[in-house]
Amino acid sequence: MNGTRHELELEPRELLVYVLRDRLRLTGTNVGCDTSSCGACTVLVDGAAVKSCTVLGVQAEGEEITTIEGLARDGELHPVQQAFHDRHALQCGFCTPGMVMATVSLIEHGEATGEEAIRIGLEGNLCRCTGYHNIVAAVQDAASAMGRAS
Ligand code: FES
Ligand code: FES
Repeated sequence: MNGTRHELELEPRELLVYVLRDRLRLTGTNVGCDTSSCGACTVLVDGAAVKSCTVLGVQAEGEEITTIEGLARDGELHPVQQAFHDRHALQCGFCTPGMVMATVSLIEHGEATGEEAIRIGLEGNLCRCTGYHNIVAAVQDAASAMGRAS
């Protein structure tokens, strides 16, 4: 978890998102719907964006998980975080951790190849404040900063 090994004894029914929030106190990962619709709970499992309300904690055994708390390095924001900040790509911020994690995966997988691809790639992440225009602009900036723009 964010570079640190944790050993936990879990109930088989415990969802990963509640393991993160309630057991590890990593409350940056939000729960919006609990039914795999909103993307607020998105984290990276071995680099792939996953909705952590759809995964059991026990399924994450042995996996490398990254949450929003694990993105910044040495006090420096991750390029995606910086781009969201610079482009004002958040309003209330509730969707933002999930949106940022989904964006990291999209860019790392070479799928942020233009506005349409970005909108399709992030269609599983909903923003109730509807700030999609600035979010797309931030993703494009971040892809450039990470050398992954098309
Ligand atoms: Fe997981 Fe909404 S809380 S998708
Ligand atoms: Fe409010 Fe997206 S910034 S839900």
